[in-house]
Order: sequence, then C-alpha cells, then structure tokens
Amino acid sequence: MVDRDGPLTPVLTDDDAGAETTLRPRRLEQYFGQERIKESLRIAIEAARKREEPLDHLLFHGPPGLGKTTLAMIVAAEMGVSIRITSGPAIERAGDLASLLTSLQPGDILFIDEIHRLSLAVEEVLYPAMEDFSVDIILGKGPKARDVRLRLSRFTLVGATTRFALVSQPLRDRFGAAYRMDFYDEEALSRIVRRSATVLGCEVDEGGVAQIARRSRGTARVANRLLRRVRDYAEVRADGVVTSEVADAALAQLQIDDLGLDQMDRDLLSVMAERFGGGPVGLDTLAAAISEEADTIMDVYEPYLLKIGFMQRTPRGRILARPAYDHLGIESAPSSTPTVQRSLFEAPDDDSDDQED
Ligand SMILES: Nc1ncnc2c1ncn2[C@@H]1O[C@H](COP(=O)(O)OP(=O)(O)OP(=O)(O)O)[C@@H](O)[C@H]1O
Ligand SMILES: [Mg+2]
Repeated sequence: MVDRDGPLTPVLTDDDAGAETTLRPRRLEQYFGQERIKESLRIAIEAARKREEPLDHLLFHGPPGLGKTTLAMIVAAEMGVSIRITSGPAIERAGDLASLLTSLQPGDILFIDEIHRLSLAVEEVLYPAMEDFSVDIILGKGPKARDVRLRLSRFTLVGATTRFALVSQPLRDRFGAAYRMDFYDEEALSRIVRRSATVLGCEVDEGGVAQIARRSRGTARVANRLLRRVRDYAEVRADGVVTSEVADAALAQLQIDDLGLDQMDRDLLSVMAERFGGGPVGLDTLAAAISEEADTIMDVYEPYLLKIGFMQRTPRGRILARPAYDHLGIESAPSSTPTVQRSLFEAPDDDSDDQED
C-alpha cells in the first residue's frame, strides 16, 4: 500500500501543525518568492495605511501548501490589525457569519479559508457585508418578524481557496484583487529551507539546501517537511549536519526521486501509461483505478504534474506527456493515436467544474 500521507503531501498533516506555527514567516520580508504578489500587496498596504483605510478584500488561490494562510496573517501584521480565522465549512448557518461579522472592529481582517465551500445561504450574507458593510438580520419570529439592517465596521475579507473555479462569480466580483499563487522556484525554496534551518537550529550546507529545494515539488510546506525529515536522518545516521550526501540518502530512503516525485505520483503516472495507453482518461476513472479520491488527485497530485509538463488536462480527460514516459523509463504507447480517437466516442468526463481560469 502506498503511503497516501507521505512526506510529499502538500496538505497539512497533524505532524506538521506545531512546526508550521514555528516556521511560519511573520513579516513580508521573510516571505520568499511570489514576488509579483508581494509587490502588489506592498503598494496596496502602503496606500491603505496612508489613507488610514482598510485594505480592499483579497482572494488568494492556488494549490495547498504554497502560503495562502501565511500571507493572510502577514497582511494583517503589516497592516497592524487583528485577524479572525475561520473556514467555509466551519460557517454552517447564515447567523454564524452574521455574528462573526458584527464582532469585527474597524480595519480587522476576516480570513475565510476554503471559501469555495461556503453554502449559498451564507454567501448571500457576505455580499452586502463586503459591498456595503451591512448585514440584514431577521428579528423575532412568525408574523411579528422584521428585517433589520445592521451596520458593520469597515473590515477586510481575505479569502483563500485551492479551487478558484468553484468560487461563485458574484463572490469573485466582490474582491478588489485575486492573486494566483505560483509554485516556488528552486531559489525561493532554498531561501525558505535556509531560514527554516536557522529557526530549527539545524546545520545544513549549501549542497543539502539544494537537494531539499530541488525535491520539494515547488511547495513551501513540502520544503519545510523534508527539511525536518532529513534533519532526523542526519541526527540518527550521520553527525547531524545536512550535507548533499546526507540529504540524498535521506530522501532516497523516503522514496523521493530526483524530481521530488514519490511512489504515489509514480503509481498515478504508470497507471495512466499502462492501463490507459497514456489517456485521455477521465478524472473519475483514474481515481477509481488508483483507489484515490478524485478531489485528492485534483488538489494534491495533479497540479505539480501539470506544472512540470508530465500531464495535460484536456476536455476529454488527462493525457500523459512525453517527459513522464522518459522519467518512468517506459516506452510511450504506439497506440496513443487510436486511443485519442476512440475516446471521441466515449462520454466526456465531468471535469467541467475544475478548469482553472
Ligand atoms: N513564501 C514563503 N516563505 C517562507 N515560508 C513559507 C512561504 N509560504 C509558505 N511558507 C511555509 O509553508 C507553510 C505552509 O504555508 P500555508 O499554510 O500558508 O499554505 P496554504 O497555501 O495556506 O496551504 P493550504 O491550502 O493547505 O491551506 C507555512 O507554515 C510556512 O512555514
Ligand atoms: Mg491555508
């Protein structure tokens, strides 16, 4: 059985929770990479501070572990305001959101993680709150019930989602800016690893930094997790110093290859190659074939495989690309052309909701 929560999962695990708090950068200058987003935020923050106004509502979207929550907390710190943290699934009823909103102080940030999971009833409370800083509540019951409009403090909503495509249009329209987070390049990941090593008091040389950065799937959370795993290995199997050789041995032991792919990635790719002739294969079919949730494939595995050009998403399903065959050391299927044609007659897979902008 493959370890589904292996060291490469970009999703937060229980094991990470404590370390994440320690390693989370507090200010913009410690937040590496995402330069375009940072520059835009710096300007917005400075302008808002000068005018002594709250920031516009912001939406951060992108794969897990790239730093959306961290950035929301940094924005609050840079603005010098308080942040209230909640999530789409945690706000069950419209009344829950209304009471949260009425408790905000002027300038406060309300952070809603997984904002695509708000119910419609809750979303409808959010629209006038974002637009006019007001909420309508019903007082009393039955024939005596009446609508009351409450004024709210001017606050900033910061939303985060791994599924931009599932954020409704009316909600999207009410954000002043939407930022798409990108996978980190090796340089940014190296800086993240160096900083985290300092915070953890762990000695890592440049070769060690490079090994970890290269094999972190472009994801800050993974870089930090690999650093912790490699540090354990260095303490037990070496003299505690993370060199290139030590990192290499530790990562090999975790079955993480030189591109940062783990067994689960390789299983996914080889099933596509061997069972489905390289695709196109629908997401649900693929999910069933590897006994994984379609959502997990879409959120966790696929974004990075798309990013490195191992896989492509087409309206008819996922296709395996040439570099994936090379990496797996499998001949690419000579039948790939007939496969494509045959699938023209198959019912399309319902991936219509997951196409990113
Ligand atoms: N730009 C960065 N510089 C340094 N460290 C970072 C950066 N971005 C993220 N991190 C580190 O990665 C960890 C994960 O980031 P964060 O929790 O903000 O990701 P996320 O995008 O909110 O993930 P999810 O979608 O799972 O909620 C943080 O604890 C932090 O230590
Ligand atoms: Mg988060």
